[in-house]
Amino acid sequence: MARPSRAVDSTFGTCERPGIRLRPDEVPSAEAERESSQPKARANRKAREEMSAPNKSYDPVEVEALKPEEIDRARDAALAAIAAAGDLEALREVKAAHAGDRSPLALANREIGALPPHARAEAGKRVGQARGAVGQALKKRQEELEAERDERVLVEEAVDVTLPYDRVPAGARHPLTTLMERIEDVFVAMGYEVAEGPEVEAEWFNFDALNIAPDHPARTMQDTFFVRGAEDGEDRDLADSGVVLRTHTSPVQIRSLLDREPPVYVICPGRVYRTDELDATHTPVFHQVELLAVDEGLTMTDLKGTIEHMVRSLFGEGLGTRMRPSYFPFTEPSAEVDMVCFVCRGESVGNPDRPCRTCSSEGWIELGGCGMVNPRVLTACGVDPERYSGFAFGFGIERMLMFRHNVEDMRDMVEGDVRFTRPFGMEI
Ligand code: PHE
Repeated sequence: MARPSRAVDSTFGTCERPGIRLRPDEVPSAEAERESSQPKARANRKAREEMSAPNKSYDPVEVEALKPEEIDRARDAALAAIAAAGDLEALREVKAAHAGDRSPLALANREIGALPPHARAEAGKRVGQARGAVGQALKKRQEELEAERDERVLVEEAVDVTLPYDRVPAGARHPLTTLMERIEDVFVAMGYEVAEGPEVEAEWFNFDALNIAPDHPARTMQDTFFVRGAEDGEDRDLADSGVVLRTHTSPVQIRSLLDREPPVYVICPGRVYRTDELDATHTPVFHQVELLAVDEGLTMTDLKGTIEHMVRSLFGEGLGTRMRPSYFPFTEPSAEVDMVCFVCRGESVGNPDRPCRTCSSEGWIELGGCGMVNPRVLTACGVDPERYSGFAFGFGIERMLMFRHNVEDMRDMVEGDVRFTRPFGMEI
């Protein structure tokens, strides 16, 4: 690329201190010399004198931009462009072109000063009116376009707050599941096996094999859900179907004993059904964990030690257990098992200043039922009761969840609300 030649501007040259040579008529008087003793000021004055010579070729009345028809043309062009501006962006451009510093009307306005005084008022009025009309039109169009934009934004950017929430909130495993798995872990660590069985169960496994007599009240429709068999006609009495929703996990004892040769150590977690109405403390569908041990030489002390180990594992050290005599057809002897309340540790008993909500100030919490397996059950399963003995223990998980975690209403456990399950944590 060619370098531009270095032109020296003579006006700058005069400003330079050295090398200014004055003609004799320019030699300042002593007074003037005092006034402008600086060479720079002197040079400026000289430049001014040269510039102020009249411009003979300029006719102020003939300024093209100030002719009425030119101003009308510029105004009409501006008004047409304003009317045509379709949006605020376009209007911004129209404004710059027709009302900006370099617009025809602004340039015309600047020329007014050059007119002779008599022509200025007339031209000023004309330009002023034209600019006023353009300004007004701009303002009006701006308002129209803003209103249009606001209306469009309201429609286009409207948020429908009734739309379904599209993110799935993170849930958590149900505390019944995690508690059951914890209990399983305690027993698996002792060498037990986890055994499962069907929820739709033959009446024989649920009742007969467990030594529950045909006239036992639990076997009525007041307690048990009977299921119509696939072959059954509508006319068959439901209570005679021979199929039930299992009312406890004890039929898994029977299935386990029929499946295995002793020694048998199994833990049976699962869902069970009874015809209760759903309320704060009852639910027709709930969960039990039952354990069964059948081996040579097992006694009540093994049962008691096993229960104490479970309580220690789930609730911590130092909480005793007790057995109260009870009755179950499938165990003999039978007992109800209690543990010392893990909240007040028994200290609320007879101490009205320190009441305990967990155990109702009784000092004990009921865990479940237990006993030595009835020899008739062993016989029904083909196990020799002369050689083997066994113990069993069963308890409800909902109840344990209630007292272990202060859950006051069982219905919370079945409603499926993540706000209930999440506080139990993400245990896996
Ligand atoms: N099956 C009994 C019930 O559902 C509980 C139980 C299990 C009792 C094992 C004794 C032994 O109530």
